[in-house]
Amino acid sequence: MREEFRSLDESLLPAVVEIERASNASPWSENSFRAEIGSSEGEFLVLLSGGIPVGFGGYWAVVDEAHITNIAVAPEHRRRGFGRRIMEELLRRAAQRGLVCSTLEVRASNHPAVRLYESLGYQTVARRRRYYPDNQEDALVLWLYDLTPWKT
Ligand SMILES: CC(C)(COP(=O)(O)OP(=O)(O)OC[C@H]1O[C@@H](n2cnc3c(N)ncnc32)[C@H](O)[C@@H]1OP(=O)(O)O)[C@@H](O)C(=O)NCCC(=O)NCCS
Repeated sequence: MREEFRSLDESLLPAVVEIERASNASPWSENSFRAEIGSSEGEFLVLLSGGIPVGFGGYWAVVDEAHITNIAVAPEHRRRGFGRRIMEELLRRAAQRGLVCSTLEVRASNHPAVRLYESLGYQTVARRRRYYPDNQEDALVLWLYDLTPWKT
């Protein structure tokens, strides 16, 4: 199946919002995604497989850091490597942009996501108690300190 990354645009918004609603307990609004379209402060990518949007991910460039803002894969397409592919593409693009490190927050109970991030070299460095307002869950703060290997 042919796979391609596209930058988020208006035509991809409905699919992205649907994936988000199926994936996130406190989903971003459509307008939050719309604000990412064409932003020069970061990138927001949608992965299509056989022409179908299967997942998305984005980062903000904050000084020299790539802050991963959101990533999700549609439930029916999980465990097929798409999440890893999206993260790898974000890290490659961030490194090529000259960013030197990356950080993100994740719910403490989100083991699939934590395992994905750790497999890419992220380390858990802090815990923010009761960070998520919907269920008072703690957030883990992860850092990937060196994006140099992602430049090539
Ligand atoms: C996290 C998420 C993006 C992973 O996407 P995915 O396409 O299923 O992930 P991949 O198939 O690329 O898996 C990559 C690695 O992640 C880990 N992983 C993914 N799903 C897992 C699960 N259910 N249990 C344990 N580890 C898991 C594994 O280490 C896996 O590597 P492996 O297949 O070699 O074991 C997906 O589960 C998702 O959309 N979750 C809901 C949204 C979310 O939690 N986003 C993160 C917010 S911080």
